[in-house]
Amino acid sequence: MFIVVAVTGGIAAYKSVHLVRLLIKDGHDVHVVPTEDALRFVGLPTWEAISRNPVTVSVHDDVAQVRHVSLGQRADLIVVAPATANTLAKMAAGIADNLVGTTLLATRAPVVVAPAMHTEMWQHPATVANVATLRARGVHVIGPESGELTGGDSGAGRMSEPEAIAAAAVVIASAAAMPVSDEHAQDLAGLRVVVSTGGTREPLDPVRYLGNRSSGRQGAAVALAAADRGAEVTLVAAHVDDGVLAEASRHPAIEIQRVGTTSELAVAMRRSASAADVVVMVAAVADYRPADMADRKITKDSVGGSGLTLHLVETEDVLAELVAERRSGQIFVGFAAETPAEGESLVERAARKARRKGVDLLAVNEVGWHQAFEAEDNTLMFLDAAGEVTGQVSGTKRTTAEGLWDAVAATRRNRDEEK
Ligand code: CTP
Repeated sequence: MFIVVAVTGGIAAYKSVHLVRLLIKDGHDVHVVPTEDALRFVGLPTWEAISRNPVTVSVHDDVAQVRHVSLGQRADLIVVAPATANTLAKMAAGIADNLVGTTLLATRAPVVVAPAMHTEMWQHPATVANVATLRARGVHVIGPESGELTGGDSGAGRMSEPEAIAAAAVVIASAAAMPVSDEHAQDLAGLRVVVSTGGTREPLDPVRYLGNRSSGRQGAAVALAAADRGAEVTLVAAHVDDGVLAEASRHPAIEIQRVGTTSELAVAMRRSASAADVVVMVAAVADYRPADMADRKITKDSVGGSGLTLHLVETEDVLAELVAERRSGQIFVGFAAETPAEGESLVERAARKARRKGVDLLAVNEVGWHQAFEAEDNTLMFLDAAGEVTGQVSGTKRTTAEGLWDAVAATRRNRDEEK
């Protein structure tokens, strides 16, 4: 889920660091929007490090991405924690004088607030009226609890524990999302699907490897979307964090197999692909591996002063091999993140790859075009076996995953019509 955590200026902001961690651990894509005041309690680098996403405070940052509304538009859920009396008042009045305010006005997603303030402020008629307005508008209010407050006071006003906020928020958002998942019904029911994700690593010595920055999120979203649409899914994951796989690991129709190197990935894919109806290679597979793996750690002494030259050899092309052994009726989908040279056409380059790989569908990842590797938005362009562009989808990794399955469904329909 794409979750925005808005942090406003209260001492309880430090507890929201744990809240963000819990949501990440649960496999969500978390975007933190602190107010200027919140940054007095917990600094921007902490939010970026903990959420693994860029964090901005001002509506004037990142204007090209229309960030003041895009976060709210894309969110599946917004959690305001801690929510100060001031922010609750602004929310009730619809004031949008900071990024938290614009994000909240731009959203149609469920909003959860976790108030934190002194008892007098919580019980003030103004706050009581504001909270009543927000509740009437469908905002979910979690807490506050009674207990110790800052300055030695105690009473109602303490922010709920991060565990309680995280659990309640996810349940609220899942319930709100129910009708959306019905949209695609069960159009993949009865199909066996194999998805690879993550990035392979090739060892240099017992402690070092050659790897890449793939997080595995897009592949996990592809697997989840397929399973929700009725498919039986095998997800072959190369070096993917537990948090990224958390949702998939709880899904009854998804079996996860973990692999490390390209050859391990090849073995796992060969084993599952023969029985599959659809194979989707999202994984970033190493094209080269060291010709020899050193048995012991490479040291400066053993290398000498003239620098270290690595001798690399090509790895197997897993997708091309699977395609070469295909059964009739199977559908193969490849992924490509292209960074075309100046003057070179991306589409032509992708079309060459689609034909070379022999795939039925090539999903070209626009992230690579702008080198914005960890960008929030993803755009996939689809090319068919002949290299013709058949469609494009933008949005969250889940949205693009749904677009991919729509493209697969269209490919299957076209094939049936040709028969
Ligand atoms: N792939 C694979 N085995 C490899 C390399 C890539 O199965 N050794 C798969 C990827 O999972 C992806 C597709 O092939 O689905 C395209 O990957 P990409 O790296 O773009 O293709 P390459 O053939 O390596 O081409 P390039 O030289 O442009 O990197």
